[in-house]
Amino acid sequence: KPVLILNGPNLNLLGQRQPEVYGRETLADVERLCAETASSLGLKTQFRQSNHEGALVEMIHEARAEAAAIVINPAAYTHTSVAILDALNAFDGPVIEVHISNVHKRESFRHHSYVSARADAVIAGCGTQGYALALHRVATLLKG
Ligand code: DQA
Repeated sequence: KPVLILNGPNLNLLGQRQPEVYGRETLADVERLCAETASSLGLKTQFRQSNHEGALVEMIHEARAEAAAIVINPAAYTHTSVAILDALNAFDGPVIEVHISNVHKRESFRHHSYVSARADAVIAGCGTQGYALALHRVATLLKG
């Protein structure tokens, strides 16, 4: 089964959106990085993005049958969504939460994450490399 890499709202604008915070790489660049990293680790990936909370919830439901692990950047829903937390709590495999920016260095409303209550690990402030680091951790957890 593949690793689902799930991206939340506004991440379709990565590279154009606040480049001083999120960098110049696009989501397509991140997808390529994930595919390369995964293949070096012997993993397959499925890469998805939505701006809609309910769509993200449904993608997590599908992952129950179809994915071995989830790497998720819930973006702004990190800080608001009990629904995404509940969906992740219905998923059995490893879950890694990724933030491109260091949310703890930013506004206080970004310091709390609902998703962290379920995540096996949280990576923040590593830029887009955080996705590659998350896949390395997934590979370790899936072996264990
Ligand atoms: C983010 C951090 C969130 O606070 C923000 O709403 C995002 C992106 C990150 O990757 O740094 O959209 O998840």
